[in-house]
Amino acid sequence: MNLRTASAVVGLMTAFSFAPLTLAADKPAKAQTCVGCHGPNGNSLVPTYPKLAGQHAAYLEQSLKDFRDGHRKNATMEPFAKGLTDEEIKALAEYYAAQSQS
Ligand code: HEC
Repeated sequence: MNLRTASAVVGLMTAFSFAPLTLAADKPAKAQTCVGCHGPNGNSLVPTYPKLAGQHAAYLEQSLKDFRDGHRKNATMEPFAKGLTDEEIKALAEYYAAQSQS
């Protein structure tokens, strides 16, 4: 196998292993930390925790960035937004926006 073939094979393998992450309906790993307050699919059971299910992705994304960057203040929510990257926030926002509200 020459170098060009080898890198094509590696490229193909990479494309396949990352493919599931691009599906909007896939539950992001970070969503595990949100379940306790926002419910298993974004339908919070406790009224003091807002429902995330079915909200617009752009709104959820902006809210998370605002919590993370200190533009939106909430002592409960801020610690959970702090460690998130832009990519993780986008995935979480798309996941919750795709869930139906109950
Ligand atoms: C300990 C409970 C708790 C956990 C865990 C938690 N949140 Fe929250 N979240 C809240 C509360 C309380 C609010 C309402 C904050 C406010 O009033 O501004 C909130 C608000 C939000 C909002 C804004 C919703 C809106 O309608 O404006 C988003 C988006 C959000 N949380 C996403 C997440 C994500 C994603 C995670 C997991 C990474 C998470 N939260 C983990 C308690 C929690």
